[in-house]
Amino acid sequence: MDFFDKVHNRNNTRSVKWDMRRAMFQSDDVLPMWVADMDFQAPEAVSNALIERARHGIYGYTIIDDDVINPIINWISKRHNWDIQKEWLSFSPGVIASLHMAVQAFTEPGDDILIQTPVYTPFYSVIESHGRNVVKSPLLQQDHYYQIDFADFEEKLKQGVSAFILCSPHNPVGRVWKQEELEEMARLCLKYDVLILSDEIHADLIYPGEMHIPIASLSDDVAAKTITFMSPSKTFNLAGLQASYIITPDKETRETLNKHLSNQGHHMLNTMGNTAMEAAYRYGEEWLDELRNVLENHKNYVTDMLEEKTDVLTVTRSEGTYLLWIDCSKLDMNSKELKKFMNETAKVGFNAGVDYGDEGEMFMRMNIACPRETLEEGVNRLIDAVNNR
Ligand SMILES: Cc1ncc(COP(=O)(O)O)c(C=O)c1O
Repeated sequence: MDFFDKVHNRNNTRSVKWDMRRAMFQSDDVLPMWVADMDFQAPEAVSNALIERARHGIYGYTIIDDDVINPIINWISKRHNWDIQKEWLSFSPGVIASLHMAVQAFTEPGDDILIQTPVYTPFYSVIESHGRNVVKSPLLQQDHYYQIDFADFEEKLKQGVSAFILCSPHNPVGRVWKQEELEEMARLCLKYDVLILSDEIHADLIYPGEMHIPIASLSDDVAAKTITFMSPSKTFNLAGLQASYIITPDKETRETLNKHLSNQGHHMLNTMGNTAMEAAYRYGEEWLDELRNVLENHKNYVTDMLEEKTDVLTVTRSEGTYLLWIDCSKLDMNSKELKKFMNETAKVGFNAGVDYGDEGEMFMRMNIACPRETLEEGVNRLIDAVNNR
């Protein structure tokens, strides 16, 4: 059986996605297709490296040495055409932890911070929990494809925001930003002196034919105004190992950032995260390319099935991430009814679109990073429920 077809039982593994079903959906028979991790095993080389490290039996304090750093640098150069320097790197347990820290380090209470909505839910709390204000520049949707409203984007920057949290590729709308779009966002941020906090955690998860461009790679000027957040966690399904990194080309910005990291006690990674990150970037490339083909097939399958078998659900055109943004507006339900319908009637556990902003009220986010059998079960449950409503 193909590696990505194998169904693994994740129950009782302390899996957020599977073991928190009751807490999340008030039911144990919902098929969980929500939180962004995958029901696939990580590359075998990663598991082998972890097993070997575990066998050693001593898990003391761990350094991040060149054996970890060089594979990261090589990966970013090869996969994203961006040559970074070793000293630009800092490490943290996760992108959200890093964003919290960056907001505290580079903005002041009361400052305005821009996001492009609908967007990954924790961006709101990253801003608001530190007494900063969310400023929204909603994305424009046309023919089930999202684009930036640059007039609005500029207007908001002009009003004096201090930072912009970019989601690139964008969760949940699935956009992989094109060079012209990145250049225009960067040009405006430089013009209005706005720091770019670029969350690029989904950088590797783009559909074949798409290209992810790190915004900081556009020019030295943009790099100087950007902090980039990356991680192998989405790419290789390592989220539970808590290892991520931050790329800050500008020296002064980096010194401030590192001081904040240090003041919060972040000066190393956990031993297993370190080990997995090295193995993933050294040996995971073939696995990733196979995964991307699987995800593309899954995306096409869901899109075709929902459009052929229902006349009410439409999948937003997606260029990256394994999360599909499904337009349910023709079901004619409010967001509460929609959530209830998905959980109780269809028995599929999606993320409610409204959690990403008011713009997402009529949407559901579906995670398609699961074996084909699971995916088909989810799609059939959804289609049956919609057609029998
Ligand atoms: C855009 C985005 N940023 C950050 C995260 C979470 O990152 P971490 O687990 O490293 O905090 C996710 C997870 O879904 C995400 O989609």
